[in-house]
Amino acid sequence: RRVAEAADVADLRLLARRRAPRMVFDYVDGAAEGERSMARAVEAFERVEFSPRVLRDVSHAPTEVEVLGRRIAMPVVLGPTGFTRMMHREGERAVARAAERAAVPYVLSTMGTTSAAGVAAAAPGGWNWFQLYVVRDRARSLDSLSRAREAGMDVLVVTVDVPVAGARLRDVRHGLTVPPSLHWRSVLQAVRHPAWWFDFLTSEPLRFATVDGAPGDLAGITNLMFDPSVTVSDLEWIRSAWQGRLLVKGVQRVEDAKELAAVGVDGIVVSNHGGRQLDRSATPLELLPHVVAAVGDRVEVFLDGGVRSGADVAAAVALGARACFVGRAYLYGLMACGEAGVRRVLDLLRAELVRTLQLLGAGGVGGLGPDLVRLRDS
Ligand code: FNR
Repeated sequence: RRVAEAADVADLRLLARRRAPRMVFDYVDGAAEGERSMARAVEAFERVEFSPRVLRDVSHAPTEVEVLGRRIAMPVVLGPTGFTRMMHREGERAVARAAERAAVPYVLSTMGTTSAAGVAAAAPGGWNWFQLYVVRDRARSLDSLSRAREAGMDVLVVTVDVPVAGARLRDVRHGLTVPPSLHWRSVLQAVRHPAWWFDFLTSEPLRFATVDGAPGDLAGITNLMFDPSVTVSDLEWIRSAWQGRLLVKGVQRVEDAKELAAVGVDGIVVSNHGGRQLDRSATPLELLPHVVAAVGDRVEVFLDGGVRSGADVAAAVALGARACFVGRAYLYGLMACGEAGVRRVLDLLRAELVRTLQLLGAGGVGGLGPDLVRLRDS
């Protein structure tokens, strides 16, 4: 009931904070080092100024868009997130089902805790994508690609902003391990968040579905598995090993976007990993128009980072994004209340997007353009 009453994503964030132990909430809510990249990504949306047209017939405000040749209900993609079963026992399955119901894509992470086949079985009618981290053992990467393909996934998102693990200080301070273990601090947390711990201890053990990873601290696992020597030539073998559409996520410079467009990727996700990798990196919403100007005629450009509302989605699309990836927004819903929470987030994003389109006099997502929005200096 509380979830149904949540008026916006911030309300769901508060519910999530109440339900989940602090270290789990902070794993989602936190970012790298001084968390400036994350704060700036959100703050950039604060600086959006709309310039609405009045006296337009806005009785209809269609939100559908075409992404990679297929129509989706609104310009939103539920982005890849690791260890999703840590947020709620239903994890990736709950997210995939909510995405299926809302007719938007869902991206399963390499660090996911449900297999590609498990996601496909949970949401057979959904558009499920797969996100790849290139690991040291290339045979494993190829194997996860074939399992994704066998599960019907036809879009691959290669994330390139994690050559090494970022320093997430909240996790360091909490001593977070994956899976969370019961030491004296977590016992205290268990007393305060009994429902979460009950679910956690009575559900399927939390482990990676795609990669081998001994339990431990996340940065340690990442650095052991991920290959810091990956270059553009690796994208070429991925391109040849993957028959479907290919997106690259984590692009933070115009020159890199141009180089990738030349390699023949289908799309670029302008992203700094929600501020979880290099702190003080470029703010996605500010960089977006420059990337769109440079390569928007050749590849589809997506915005990722800081999206917390449907009005944010409208602003990003007006500034040139094909669609927005969202991360934390849906994870707050998941932590608050599983699939119902993710559904609530998607319902909110959609309602906010429709209302924004109407108040903007945009007559649908197709009517959004740079003339309707600007970024203030402060
Ligand atoms: C992520 N993100 C991420 N990205 C990725 O490519 N693979 C992954 O496994 C993960 N894991 C992950 C876990 C958690 C808890 C979060 C919050 C994020 C990054 C994610 O896809 C996306 O880039 C950011 O979340 C976008 O920023 P917002 O929407 O959270 O502000």
